[in-house]
Amino acid sequence: MIIAIDGPAASGKSTTAKLVAERSGFSYLDTGAMYRAVTYAVLQSRVDLADEQGLAEWLALQDITQRWEKGTCRVYLNGTDITAAIRSPEVTRRVSEVSAIPVVRQAMVRLQRTLAAQGDYVVEGRDIGTVVFPDAEWKFFLVADDETRAKRRQKDLEQLGIHQDISELVREIQERDRKDSSRAHSPLRKAADAIEVDTSHLTIAEQVQFILNQIKQPLTKETS
Ligand code: CDP
Repeated sequence: MIIAIDGPAASGKSTTAKLVAERSGFSYLDTGAMYRAVTYAVLQSRVDLADEQGLAEWLALQDITQRWEKGTCRVYLNGTDITAAIRSPEVTRRVSEVSAIPVVRQAMVRLQRTLAAQGDYVVEGRDIGTVVFPDAEWKFFLVADDETRAKRRQKDLEQLGIHQDISELVREIQERDRKDSSRAHSPLRKAADAIEVDTSHLTIAEQVQFILNQIKQPLTKETS
């Protein structure tokens, strides 16, 4: 079974998705971390983003994996732990551009489908309910107001030793949402059959419980 959790930047997807996975015994897949890993790899390499064929060949050689270790989801690129590096402001600034490239999306979607075919998964991202798993049994779309999202992101970054002003973070979040929502391929949007959850005034425990309560109910929609 697939539980898709989509939504804009810093809407609380990761924290929620991880806890829902833990509490329901599902595996967890963070597709944003995969696009961040590709972006990090691009920044480390000399690969030409305009050369589709070259980029596709280069992508096929990149080994991106996620593993649970001591309660955290660690991300590896070709065997190197890049969990912290993919959260850097530079990767965040470039990730929307890299993830809008069709060959990047094709490679990542293929990988996501292969990984999640192996069992019960909570998969979080931007296009999970619309493109990657349009037949997911459950789809949630998390939203929150800009100020709340910027404050949450500021707290996350502070834990990594990075300080950014709220006003700068609001601007960055809005810019990333604009790029993610307006791209030609699999833009960020709510699937027609997704349940929207506004997390602005919810605690983490409340938003997790809301989703757990929903998935305990028998499925009422068709799961073709
Ligand atoms: O910062 P936040 O945790 O909200 O974002 P993320 O989930 O780490 O995703 C980073 C970026 O990856 C997004 O801004 C999108 O550009 C891209 N992304 C995507 O295109 N498709 C997905 N399924 C997931 C992420």
